[in-house]
Amino acid sequence: MKEILDFQKEEIVNIYDEISLWAAPFGRLLLEYIPMQKNAKILDLGFGTGFPIIELAQRFGDGSTIYGMDIWPAAVKRAQVKIKTLDIKNVELFEQSAEKIPLDNGSIDLICSNLGVNNFNNKGDILLECFRVLKDGGNLCISTNPIGTFEAFFLLFEEVLKELELEEAIGIFREYVSHRESKEKIVDDFDRMGFVLEKAIEDKTYMRFVDASAIFDHGLIRIGFLATWQKIIPESVHDKFFEILKSKIDAVIQETGAFKMNIPILYLQFRKED
Ligand SMILES: C[S@@+](CC[C@H](N)C(=O)[O-])C[C@H]1O[C@@H](n2cnc3c(N)ncnc32)[C@H](O)[C@@H]1O
Repeated sequence: MKEILDFQKEEIVNIYDEISLWAAPFGRLLLEYIPMQKNAKILDLGFGTGFPIIELAQRFGDGSTIYGMDIWPAAVKRAQVKIKTLDIKNVELFEQSAEKIPLDNGSIDLICSNLGVNNFNNKGDILLECFRVLKDGGNLCISTNPIGTFEAFFLLFEEVLKELELEEAIGIFREYVSHRESKEKIVDDFDRMGFVLEKAIEDKTYMRFVDASAIFDHGLIRIGFLATWQKIIPESVHDKFFEILKSKIDAVIQETGAFKMNIPILYLQFRKED
């Protein structure tokens, strides 16, 4: 048995930085559906600060080996601290891009990725590598947010672009929104690389906000979205744009009590054909 984890110890905070509420609903689905197997060799692509790799390591137990790949040095370091604090021995991390996976052909039973592989640059090369390292009959399981993410918010965003007659920005915005793919497009891309769809689960969640400022001040928005949104808007109308957008959001809140940033969730499980 491993040691009880004592709240009084300073290092416990390192494993208490809960995965964000953004990643959690995706990870929940993934962890509920990925095929379980004893003594499995698993690869988690884009594990960030340790999710779901640390959870997988614990659920699949010491007989398993979980390899992880990520390109974000600070996150890899953070994950390493948590792995050490939890005294986990069945994990091996590689701080490098999944475009080149340092594992043998046909050596992996299960590849998974929470909010990862489907959004990586160079997805084609990465899927080729996944195909190479996966055993025949092995599974590739991903969770991702397809097209439709933040739909209500983006409708208002486009409304303001139109009101201000920002033609060029409308083009850029539409391209940005459509970079999120439909389930059908994702399945097609994986299918072309030799992965057969075995299971598809669709779910949804939403983040509610009490006013527009709360949306733009939220850590998730500031880390993952705001910079891109700001780049779409020409500097000269920047303040005006966000002022109008905020007032539209607040008008919705006036009527309904809260603004819902809707998030569709997709779990896809593929099999490498043998
Ligand atoms: C949205 S985060 C998801 C992190 C984690 N799986 C979670 O659910 O919290 C995507 C992760 O993929 C990593 N990533 C991006 N491109 C990558 C690549 N080519 N190879 C490996 N990891 C990559 C990023 O550094 C980041 O940690």
